[in-house]
Amino acid sequence: MSTILECRGITKRFGGIVALQNVDFEVRSGQIVGLVGPNGSGKTTLLSCIAGSLQLTAGEIHFAGNNITKQKPHRRAHAGIARTFQVPRPLPSFNVVENVAVSAMFGRDAMPKASAVLRAREVLDQVGLGSHADSSVASLTLHERKFLEIARALALDPKLILLDEVLGGLNPSEAAEGMALIASLREAGVSVVYIEHNVKAVSSLADYMYVLNQGGNLAQGAPAEVLSDQRVIDAYLGGAAHA
Ligand SMILES: Nc1ncnc2c1ncn2[C@@H]1O[C@H](COP(=O)(O)OP(=O)(O)OP(=O)(O)O)[C@@H](O)[C@H]1O
Ligand SMILES: [Mg+2]
Repeated sequence: MSTILECRGITKRFGGIVALQNVDFEVRSGQIVGLVGPNGSGKTTLLSCIAGSLQLTAGEIHFAGNNITKQKPHRRAHAGIARTFQVPRPLPSFNVVENVAVSAMFGRDAMPKASAVLRAREVLDQVGLGSHADSSVASLTLHERKFLEIARALALDPKLILLDEVLGGLNPSEAAEGMALIASLREAGVSVVYIEHNVKAVSSLADYMYVLNQGGNLAQGAPAEVLSDQRVIDAYLGGAAHA
């Protein structure tokens, strides 16, 4: 299986704060890679470094065989990297389908508005928001806004999608729906990086997992291996892992 994303020695400082220190991270093509760790361990920062909205302090990122370390975010989107935001960021003056169409216009296959709207409707059907296409984003529930966030990323037709806590705050049936959607992305051949606080949800979906702690790599491996790793239990899962 080929490697689609390779991050080597990623360091990111914000002034005096070291958010990431010499982190290695890899995604094999077609896999779901779970990324977990306590609050503030650097998960979102790593995602932003991969998507290009943050520049690295040190390290290198390779995507689909190219060194993208210095590339701007829109170039990375064109190359096939899409992300969601932990707090959904829809464009408030656009309705649901327009929010998705804007992504389609700037994705891997840049397209004119009419085609982008058609593509957006397809993607909204795919995530179960088809009936909300013409609604205002303000009318959406949290669950629907989270799925709109996924739709906006999917409209870019990504090879790699970076999901930042897309199930956070959802009830169990909504979360199950989200997990089925994430599994379907893998079926469609999209590689997935999946950040989630719900370690059980991550471990049930992921082919491979990384654990960050205080900005550094703590553990990695198959989910069962990682969940039973004493360092992970001590640093992160605590008593919950034994329960
Ligand atoms: N723009 C920023 N400026 C300054 N510090 C930042 C910035 N973004 C993140 N940090 C700091 O970097 C560290 C890592 O934050 P990050 O948001 O990546 O963690 P996280 O693992 O995503 O946490 P959470 O689980 O709460 O979402 C934290 O100490 C955070 O305060
Ligand atoms: Mg985060």
